[in-house]
Amino acid sequence: MNNHPSHIAIIMDGNGRWAQAQGKNRTYGHEKGSEVVRSITTYCAKHPEIDRLTLYAFSTENWKRPKMEVEFLMKLLQKYLKKELPTYLEGNICFQPVGDLTSFSDSLQKTIEEVKTATQHCTGLIQSLALNYGGRDEVVRAAASLQASNTIISLESITAHLDCATDVDLLIRTGGDHRLSNFMLWQSAYAELFFTNTLWPEFTSDELEKIIHKFKKVERRFGGLH
Ligand code: IPE
Ligand code: IPE
Ligand code: MG
Repeated sequence: MNNHPSHIAIIMDGNGRWAQAQGKNRTYGHEKGSEVVRSITTYCAKHPEIDRLTLYAFSTENWKRPKMEVEFLMKLLQKYLKKELPTYLEGNICFQPVGDLTSFSDSLQKTIEEVKTATQHCTGLIQSLALNYGGRDEVVRAAASLQASNTIISLESITAHLDCATDVDLLIRTGGDHRLSNFMLWQSAYAELFFTNTLWPEFTSDELEKIIHKFKKVERRFGGLH
């Protein structure tokens, strides 16, 4: 058995609990979490067998949070993208956001577009941040676009109209909960699911490496026989 996870997707959960456990504001956890985004992305970029890393950063449901937390997350995202552009370029990492970006401020949309354009020539890892992303919303938007272009519905045409047309091989959720929270529902049809109690700010590339090691031992049958 020598599967390697070509597409890894991570539900980065547990930032708030991590901060609160230390008597800090939830926002402190998001700040720390953004540093882990950088380190995990850099790790994946150094492993050529990993083609794609998709990170759940803000769900279509996260708008329900207090205004102050949502605003903090928007500012943090903009700050992260501006600051990390050199990391993308040095690591030959191509940034391809997924999600409905039209709900963001013009200024944030502009920054997202700038990083996307500036890194589109990069041929290494494709890093996607899932931003205002929901698996159901993604399928609805794909269906609407198929209808608008009068395209025949098929497995291939739906897949091609999604924000991300690539199946997930390995899906990891940090933070101890065992649910998908509307993440990559279509793409994870045959993903291997790994859950860890580690809170996202404490997740490390060592732990990712251990999970990848376990993934490699799994026999994936895709409905067939081995
Ligand atoms: C995940 O951490 C980050 C986002 C959803 C933006 P949480 O903020 O959900 O942290 P917990 O799960 O409440 O600890
Ligand atoms: C999922 O985490 C969303 C992100 C990690 C961005 P949540 O904390 O929003 O999920 P629930 O509410 O526990 O399902
Ligand atoms: Mg959470």
